[in-house]
Amino acid sequence: MAHLHPFTDPVDAQANPPTVMVQGDGCAVIDDAGNRYIDAASALWCASLGFSNQRLIDAATAQMQQLPYYHNFMGRVAEPTERLAEAIVEKLPDGMNQVFFGCSGSEAVDTAIKLARFHQIGRGRPEKRLILAREEAYHGSGTMSAALSAADYMHDGFDLPMDGVVRLDSTHHRRHAHDGESEVDFSARRAAELEETILRIGADKICAMIGEPVIGSGGAIIPPEGYWEEIQAVLRRHDILLIADEIITGFGRTGEWFACQTYRIQPDLLTMAKQLSGAYFPISGVAVHDHVHEVISAHAHELGTLGHGFTYGGHPVGAAVAMEAIRIYEEMDLPNHVKTLGRQLADRLRPLADHPGVAEIRQVGLLAAIEFEPRGEVGEAAGAVRAEAEANGVIFRPIGDTLAIAPPYVVTPEELDHIVDVMVASIDSTIGAFS
Ligand SMILES: Cc1ncc(COP(=O)(O)O)c(C=O)c1O
Repeated sequence: MAHLHPFTDPVDAQANPPTVMVQGDGCAVIDDAGNRYIDAASALWCASLGFSNQRLIDAATAQMQQLPYYHNFMGRVAEPTERLAEAIVEKLPDGMNQVFFGCSGSEAVDTAIKLARFHQIGRGRPEKRLILAREEAYHGSGTMSAALSAADYMHDGFDLPMDGVVRLDSTHHRRHAHDGESEVDFSARRAAELEETILRIGADKICAMIGEPVIGSGGAIIPPEGYWEEIQAVLRRHDILLIADEIITGFGRTGEWFACQTYRIQPDLLTMAKQLSGAYFPISGVAVHDHVHEVISAHAHELGTLGHGFTYGGHPVGAAVAMEAIRIYEEMDLPNHVKTLGRQLADRLRPLADHPGVAEIRQVGLLAAIEFEPRGEVGEAAGAVRAEAEANGVIFRPIGDTLAIAPPYVVTPEELDHIVDVMVASIDSTIGAFS
C-alpha cells in the first residue's frame, strides 16, 4: 500500500486496509465490493448536497472550460472568486464584509490566527499573542491549527508550538457540571473561570479565543444555555478577539446560515469550508469584521502588502461550485429546510435517551450525537453499534463513546427515518434492547 493514511494506524492499515469507495449516489456511497451505504455523517461533515449533484458537476465543468485556474495575488483575480466573496458577505453575521480564501479548513484557521496577530501588531499591541482554545476542540492539522486542537495524539511526537496556546475547560455540561448545576449556571462558571485565566495571564498577552460554536469532531457537543453570551461578554471586557470556527457549522448545519446566528455570537473573525462547496471542490474562507479589517488594511498598507496567500486559494472552479451550492441552498430555503428536518431528527432520537445503554442525546439542526454509557474500553459500545450499522448500510461518525449524525441536507424524510431505524436496531442487537 503506497498511501500513508491520515488519522489511521499505519501498521493496522496494512492488515486492515481501508474500505475503498468507488461511486456516489444521492446520500449514498458504494464501495469496490458493491456494498451501498447511506453516509449519515456526510463523509467528514461536508457532503451537504450528497454525492451525485449534477448542478455542482456542471458548474465545475463549465468553469473548467471557461478558465480552469487563476490566482488572486498582486492585482489579479478570477471572476467567480470575486462574485463568491460578495455572495458570502450577504449571508454572514452583521458587520462582516470581507472574505479571505484558502483551500482547506486548516488553512482558514491558520489564516484567522495570522490575521488576528496581524491586527494586534497593527494596532500597536504586539505582546498580545496567546490564543485561547478549548478542550475537545478540533481546528485542523496545520502546525498552528493542530496546536489549537485538543487531542493529545495530534501533539505527541510532533513538537508543535504549544507555548502559544492556553487551554480552556470542556463545555460538556453533562460530564462536567456539579451536582444539580443548571446549564445556565455551568455557563456562568465557565465564563468566570475564563475571566480568572485572563486575569492570571494578563489580557495584554492574549490575542484571541478560538471556538467552534458547536464542537464537531471532538464529540458534537452543543454549547450549554447562555454559554456564548457569557463568554463574549468576558472577551469584550478584556479586549480579546473571538474567532468562530464554523468549518463544520457554516452554511446551514445548525438551521441558520451560520451557527453564530443560531447562538447570537458576534465574532471578529469566522472560518468556513466544508458545506461552502458541499465538498465538491476544496475551498475555504475567513470572514473578517469591519473593525478588524480597518486595522489590517492600514497595517498592510504601511508594509506595502498583505503578505499572506495560497496558490490555489479561492480557486475559480471551487468558487463556481460554491456559487452554485449557495444558489441551491437559497432555492431549498436552507435555514428552514434544515430546521424542519432537524425537528424530525430530534423527535425520532428523543425516545433513545431513555435507553439504559445511552448516556445522552444531543442535537441542533442536522447535527446530532448519541453518547453511550461507557462499556469496557473507551469507544467499545459506539464501535459495536457503528460496525453493526455499517453492516446494515449506514455510516455514522464514531468519536469515543459517541456516534455523530450529520446527514447531507438532501436527505429525504424517509432516508432520515431509515438512518434512525438502523441506529436503533444496531443498538438493540449490540448493547441490548429496551428492557
Ligand atoms: C471545526 C474545524 N476546523 C478546522 C478543520 C480543518 O479542516 P480541514 O480538514 O479542511 O483542514 C475541521 C475539519 O474537520 C473542523 O471540523
